[in-house]
Amino acid sequence: MGNIDYNETVLDHFSNPRNMGEMKDATVESIVGNPRCGDVMKIYLKIKDDIIEDIKFQTMGCAAAIATSSMATVLAKGKTVDEVRNLTNEDVAKALGELPPIKMHCSNLAADALKKAIKNWEKKN
Ligand code: FES
Repeated sequence: MGNIDYNETVLDHFSNPRNMGEMKDATVESIVGNPRCGDVMKIYLKIKDDIIEDIKFQTMGCAAAIATSSMATVLAKGKTVDEVRNLTNEDVAKALGELPPIKMHCSNLAADALKKAIKNWEKKN
């Protein structure tokens, strides 16, 4: 595998991931796997009055998966469930200043995990 050219924002979110870790008192959580590589992401949301008050993630994956997980949590934190429901992997990649095309599939993890967590929350409510 050759070197992959990540931009500075991606490298920053990979080296200093925001909102990484476990959340013991999450309102809802979800776990998803990337069928292309087997990498896995778990996401925890604390939701109050339809607002995502807090969010944490744990990702076992590549640099792009960790950077997109981090950026997705930054984009989602403090927003309403409705605002976050339609967040796409392209939105997350754009916020990072784009990912190398070969790594775009990695950005699905975060968007999918968020969507699944919101679905789980809707089922509970
Ligand atoms: Fe698996 Fe990037 S190679 S998420």
